[in-house]
Amino acid sequence: MRKVLGMVVAAVFFVGTVAVASGPKTVTIDKCKKRKAAVTFNHEAHSKRVNGKCNTCHHKWDGKGEPHSCFKCHGCKKKGNAPKAMKAFHKTCKGCHKKMHKGPTKCKECHK
Ligand code: HEC
Ligand code: HEC
Ligand code: HEC
Ligand code: HEC
Repeated sequence: MRKVLGMVVAAVFFVGTVAVASGPKTVTIDKCKKRKAAVTFNHEAHSKRVNGKCNTCHHKWDGKGEPHSCFKCHGCKKKGNAPKAMKAFHKTCKGCHKKMHKGPTKCKECHK
């Protein structure tokens, strides 16, 4: 009996921690910050807000494993086909805030 219970607990633990990718709770984006302060946001709340559709932001993610950092492809200076990080973030972040009329759109509200 104890053994069976242990297996059930292990199974629940497995589903809860391994099968669902979620990423960090809060994220600070500070790779470039040459002219502007780093930007911190609640990653978990944002993930919930899009109902777990991680590729709203992680647009190149194939859904397997964990998504890559944006900086793998988007550099502080332009690299390859990917637009500069500033452009990528402003478009993703400010773009959605503007569209939803919710969330910060002024420089100092993000670059604190
Ligand atoms: C919704 C949040 C948001 C708003 C609003 C916003 N930014 Fe940004 N911005 C970011 C993020 C995220 C980065 C990437 C930061 C990094 O990599 O260090 C960034 C990067 C930058 C960079 C390049 C990095 C650097 O420090 O040189 C500049 C310049 C910049 N923003 C200027 C502005 C200006 C000016 C405004 C207002 C007109 C503004 N931003 C509004 C989120 C925002
Ligand atoms: C609102 C946009 C947004 C949503 C939605 C979102 N993320 Fe992220 N995520 C980011 C940004 C921005 C970063 C930090 C910048 C970077 O890529 O280094 C990040 C970082 C991560 C990282 C760390 C990457 C690394 O190597 O440093 C993981 C893992 C991650 N996210 C997973 C997820 C998962 C899983 C979901 C869906 C449940 C999700 N994210 C939803 C924007 C988002
Ligand atoms: C595996 C590489 C890769 C990763 C990781 C990646 N991108 Fe991109 N991104 C690209 C490429 C390449 C483009 C150019 C258009 C295309 O191929 O889709 C692009 C285009 C974009 C665009 C459109 C820009 C425009 O001017 O229309 C945005 C916005 C963007 N990325 C944001 C992000 C954000 C935010 C993250 C992280 C949450 C991220 N990207 C992660 C490679 C990547
Ligand atoms: C799918 C739409 C969407 C995207 C994409 C998005 N946001 Fe937001 N964000 C929101 C909404 C909606 C709110 C307002 C939440 C509220 O007021 O209840 C918000 C609030 C915020 C806030 C204030 C609360 C907090 O989380 O700290 C910050 C800062 C922020 N966003 C930064 C960002 C950054 C940086 C990115 C890009 C990496 C981003 N957002 C991408 C929808 C989005």
